[in-house]
Amino acid sequence: MSAPLSLLLEAPDVRAVLSHLGRDRFIDLLTARLTETLRTFAPEQVQIPPRAGVQYANPSFGLLEWMPAYVGAGETLVKVVGYHPTNPEVRGVPTVISTMCLYDATGGHLIGIVDGTLLTALRTGAASAVATRILASPHSRVLGVIGCGAQAVTQIHALSRVLPLERIVAYDVRPDAARSLAARVSFVGVPVEVVGPEKLGDLVAGADVLCTCTSSAPGAGPVFPDGPTRPHLHVNAIGSDLPGKFEVPVELLRRGLVCPDFREQAVLEGECQQLTAEDIGPDLAALVQQGHTFEAARERITVFDSTGWALEDYVATRMMLECARELGRGRRVAVECLPPDPKDPYSLLESAESAAGSYLSAGRVRV
Ligand SMILES: NC(=O)c1ccc[n+]([C@@H]2O[C@H](COP(=O)([O-])OP(=O)(O)OC[C@H]3O[C@@H](n4cnc5c(N)ncnc54)[C@H](O)[C@@H]3O)[C@@H](O)[C@H]2O)c1
Repeated sequence: MSAPLSLLLEAPDVRAVLSHLGRDRFIDLLTARLTETLRTFAPEQVQIPPRAGVQYANPSFGLLEWMPAYVGAGETLVKVVGYHPTNPEVRGVPTVISTMCLYDATGGHLIGIVDGTLLTALRTGAASAVATRILASPHSRVLGVIGCGAQAVTQIHALSRVLPLERIVAYDVRPDAARSLAARVSFVGVPVEVVGPEKLGDLVAGADVLCTCTSSAPGAGPVFPDGPTRPHLHVNAIGSDLPGKFEVPVELLRRGLVCPDFREQAVLEGECQQLTAEDIGPDLAALVQQGHTFEAARERITVFDSTGWALEDYVATRMMLECARELGRGRRVAVECLPPDPKDPYSLLESAESAAGSYLSAGRVRV
C-alpha cells in the first residue's frame, strides 16, 4: 500500500498555472465559476461559519484567522489568513498572507495545499466583478480607488473585465503607494491619475464606481467624508473586515442599497456593522439568483460590502488545483501518518505500509 498523498502546489506551480492561462483568462474563469456557484448556492447544503481568529499587538498589530467551508460536495476548505498591515514596509511581504487546505469530508484526508495569498487577491477581485456586473451602471467609465495596495491591483483588473473603464483616479495615505499603482496596473491599459487628500471629495464625486481597499485601522474610518456623488455610484467596500473597521460614511450607506457578501459575517466585521437589520439589502447569492429584480438598482447608489467569504476561497482553490492537475503541476506529498492498524498509532513504526492505499482506493478522493 502507498503512503497517503496530498497535492502540494508550490509557488512555481501557481506561477506556471497563471502564466499558462494568462491573468485575464484566469480572472474571467474565476468570475464565471463564482457566478455559477452562487447561482446554485443553497445555504441549507453548506456550513460556512463567520471566520474566527487570534489578534495580537506584540511585536506589532496583526491577526491570524481561519475560514472553514463545508461545501456539501464532500469537501471542506480551511483557509488560514494572516493580516499584518506593517508587512510591506517593515518586512517587504504582503499585508495579507494565506494558505488554503482542502479536505475530503468523507474521511478527513488532506486533498491539497495551495497558496492563498494570490488566490485571496484574485477571488476578492472576482467577487467585486460579480457584484459590480449586477449593481453598477454598465456604462461606468470612471473608477475611483481609495487604498492603493495589493487588493487594489486585482480590484482594478477584475472591474476592467466587466466595465468599459476609461479613467482611474486613485488616492492613498501613503503617496508612494499611490504613485506606484499606475505601473502595477499598466497591463490593464487604463490611465491612472493620482490625487492628494485635498481632492478626495472630487475623486468620490466623479466616480461611477468606487473601490475602497484600505488597511485603515479599526476606529479610524470612514476613509472619505460624506458628500456629493453620482446618482448611480456603485461602491465595492472591501477593506472593512474587522470589528470597528469601516471605510464608507454611514450617511452614504443609508442612501444606498447595501449588499453584503456574507451577511452573518458582514454584521460583525463589515460596513453592515453600521446598519440595522432592516437597512441591509440582499446578499451576493441573492443578487446572482434574482439579478433581474435588481436592475433598477443600477440607477441608484449601491454598496457591495465585501468582508471575504470562504465559499469564494473554495471556488478559487478548486479551480487552481484542477488547472494544476491538467498541467501536470504540483507534487504529491505524504503528510498524514495513517498506520496499518487504525486503532494503534504506533503500528506505523512496525511497517512502512499504511492504511492510506485502501482509504484512497475507496474512490471518494479526487485532486
Ligand atoms: N473583502 C475581502 O475579501 C478582502 C480580501 C483581502 C483583503 N481585504 C482587506 O483589504 C484591505 C487592503 O488589503 P491589501 O492587501 O491591499 O493591503 P495593503 O497593505 O497592500 O494596502 C492597503 C493600502 O491602504 C492604504 N491606506 C490605509 N489607510 C488608508 C486611508 N485611510 N485612506 C487611503 N489609503 C489608506 C495603505 O497605505 C496601503 O497602501 C485590508 O484591510 C484587508 O484586510 C479584504
